[in-house]
Amino acid sequence: MKKPLRIGLVGYGFMGRTHSNAYRKVNNFFDLEYQPVLQAVCARDAAKAQAFADQWGYASIETDWRKLVERKDIDLIDICSPNNTHAEIAIAAARAGKMILCEKPLSMNGPEGETMVAEVEKAKVPNMVWYNYRRVPAVTLAKQLIDQGRLGRIFHYRAKFLQDWTISKDLPQGGTGLWRLDVNVAGSGVTGDLLAHCIDTALWLNGNIKDVSAMTETFVKERKHTLSGKVEKVGIDDACAFLAHFDNGSLATFESTRYARGHKALYTFEINGENASIAWDLHDLHRLQFFDHKDEGLTRGWKSLHITDSDHPYMKHWWVPGLQIGYEHTFVHQVADFIESITKGEKAHPDFRDSLETQNVCDAVLKSAQNGRWENVKHA
Ligand SMILES: NC(=O)c1ccc[n+]([C@@H]2O[C@H](COP(=O)([O-])OP(=O)(O)OC[C@H]3O[C@@H](n4cnc5c(N)ncnc54)[C@H](O)[C@@H]3O)[C@@H](O)[C@H]2O)c1
Repeated sequence: MKKPLRIGLVGYGFMGRTHSNAYRKVNNFFDLEYQPVLQAVCARDAAKAQAFADQWGYASIETDWRKLVERKDIDLIDICSPNNTHAEIAIAAARAGKMILCEKPLSMNGPEGETMVAEVEKAKVPNMVWYNYRRVPAVTLAKQLIDQGRLGRIFHYRAKFLQDWTISKDLPQGGTGLWRLDVNVAGSGVTGDLLAHCIDTALWLNGNIKDVSAMTETFVKERKHTLSGKVEKVGIDDACAFLAHFDNGSLATFESTRYARGHKALYTFEINGENASIAWDLHDLHRLQFFDHKDEGLTRGWKSLHITDSDHPYMKHWWVPGLQIGYEHTFVHQVADFIESITKGEKAHPDFRDSLETQNVCDAVLKSAQNGRWENVKHA
């Protein structure tokens, strides 16, 4: 008999769906001590919350997250609401002794993140942030190859996250679906939304970043605000590029934009080491490109590894070798790893403190873009 892990979900949007799907599937594919139970979903509109509860099998609804956090029949609060709500909900949940899974970015900025870290560590509640790309099997394999020393000394880290959905100047800002364009809700633009993913992966694969030099641009300076109906200044960064030094001496370039016509969610990274190089592309997420200088000269070259074998990370839980999995499975992996961690009484990663490091890099990037100078990263 599995122990129940009673979930209280805040927000039923894009991430509310990916997480609910993961909670429902995880025990079908992973042998775990706990079984997630979809206890309650919370959103401000009761009718919409009820429709979501019916569709996904939640036992009840709440329209105020404070009520959800107070409920005795909830073990874990899962925060899938916009960025400006993360801190308040997480702090209340920590004080109520709940486990917390929080969507990325952890917070609106570093200082807010520090408060969140202090609260979860004081309450000693298990906590984790949904930087799900770590759990793409090909990305997890990249981590294993690097940790085995297969690349040798790392010289370069190169990451991009490109989209094209905000090019129209007629697109409003704010409100449902467009909160990412409202700086008061999102905290920042592509830096916190997209580069935060690239930074989390980079810190995990290549260690801490020492300092950064950045530029940002807001191409469309004013947009109508959906809630006020007025044309208002746009406060987010539409595009951001930055240079960085890692503590291990390697150099990095990061770029993100929502103005790269033709690109929908092109997250790529490439790492060049003394002995080997690795490259990965979200649009082809089940493949890892690998170049090993040790290979015999005549046939040496980039290999496209198809990450579907049972000895590849996570893959023995899925189908037979050769058959691929996709985006939604990364969330299933993250739930499975979280449950393993609470079973063993270990920390789940990335936890709030790991994610504060990412937040601090974002803060340094935005500060550097403003003052035109190299900025040191404050370490979490
Ligand atoms: N891990 C990832 O790859 C990834 C991808 C997308 C979004 N995110 C993050 O997930 C979070 C949510 O993004 P999304 O794309 O799901 O947004 P979304 O707009 O699709 O959904 C947000 C949900 O939050 C609800 N909400 C807003 N304010 C609320 C409040 N005060 N109380 C309760 N519910 C409230 C909305 O009704 C909606 O259901 C953001 O922090 C975002 O950065 C992460």
